[in-house]
Amino acid sequence: MPNIPDYDHDLYSDDAILDPYPHYAAMRALGPVVHLPRHGLYALSRYADVKRALLNHTHFISGEGVAGFEWPEAFRVPTTLSTDEPTHSRFRTIIGAPLQPPQLERLTAEIETAADDLIARLVSRESFDGIAELAHVLPVSIVSTLVGLPERGRQRMLDWAAASFDLLGVGNARAAAAAERIGEMMHYVQTECRPDTVAPGGWAAQIWQAVEEGRITPAEAGVLHIDILAPALDTTIFAIGHLLHRLAGAPDQWARLKQDRALIPDAIDEAVRLESPIRAFARVTQGDQNVDGITVPAGARVLMMYASANRDDRRWDDPDRYWIERPGLSGHLGFGQGRHTCAGMHLAKLEMRSLMKAILARVDTIEVDAPRYRLNNVLRGFESLPTRFHAAA
Ligand code: HEM
Repeated sequence: MPNIPDYDHDLYSDDAILDPYPHYAAMRALGPVVHLPRHGLYALSRYADVKRALLNHTHFISGEGVAGFEWPEAFRVPTTLSTDEPTHSRFRTIIGAPLQPPQLERLTAEIETAADDLIARLVSRESFDGIAELAHVLPVSIVSTLVGLPERGRQRMLDWAAASFDLLGVGNARAAAAAERIGEMMHYVQTECRPDTVAPGGWAAQIWQAVEEGRITPAEAGVLHIDILAPALDTTIFAIGHLLHRLAGAPDQWARLKQDRALIPDAIDEAVRLESPIRAFARVTQGDQNVDGITVPAGARVLMMYASANRDDRRWDDPDRYWIERPGLSGHLGFGQGRHTCAGMHLAKLEMRSLMKAILARVDTIEVDAPRYRLNNVLRGFESLPTRFHAAA
């Protein structure tokens, strides 16, 4: 495309994963649309363009897959994430039902108690790993209990979930390494997750209930387990890690939060804006599409760069600053936008709110050392974060 500038870098290299923000700034400066010759992709990196495209789900579709490359046939199974209407709504009503605020309300007391017990234990320690020993604990225990998967899935869940995101980037070595584990996960959901093997009353059981009601087929039910298994873990784990890291690094913001706990939801949203755990997913254009005066050709695979949009200075004042009272914060794209907006964000926020409440009650100051990053094609987050809590008097 003559009027679309090339950005000739590998956005999925180790270096770019470890330090993506200079790339995003360079792409935003180049224009509304850039072409990524290394990946055969186009990308939208500015806030207004990403948001508009996400809202235009009939022309920027998910049904051809949301990875940065066309998947091999074997993996092309329709999930909520990778379908368009009307299938998407049919699936989403089923997997989204237990994730709505009124349903989650019933779990709040239990999650808050688990969060408080955890933080009470950690405050008494000299130091700990803020990822393995803090961020992992609630998402893993809550999700595995609520979903009610047969045992082998519970043990393999974290590994499969991480592999799913590696496969949602481009077809590089990381994706190739993930493919075997994805094959294992698909085999598991298709053969081991059945009405008689999932826990009664759990989310997986509700999927099978929908089969009984004739709303989905048994084959669709198997695949829908992936929608509640794959995106529920590392996303939240990484967001908790970013929240700790940012609060430790911004004593003025921590002090504001200490003074006014009503700011907890904003502290969480601001961490998701600033360090969006999902960097980007793709859409495929139906017909030529005009993006801010630039024509993107029909059939193009186009990255929606949530993490770049969330740092676009056309939309955000001082975008690289962690600022919990930021005007317009609720408009960030860290949970997506439009039809495919995160179905689990209320659960993720409930887990994070519960942890923050407990931390604010029990901790005077948070100290962290340099984090070690996890290398994943799509996710941004820490493998480990050495942390110390100084107990509140
Ligand atoms: C901080 C944590 C989380 C973040 C940052 C996050 C982010 C996102 C984003 C950006 C999307 C949009 C995908 C798109 O536009 O193609 C999404 C979709 C989705 N998320 Fe999350 N997510 C989080 C936690 C969760 C949890 C805990 C669950 C499940 C319990 C979940 C389940 C889903 C599902 C099923 C979709 C697909 C929705 C659809 O296609 O309609 N997510 N998430």
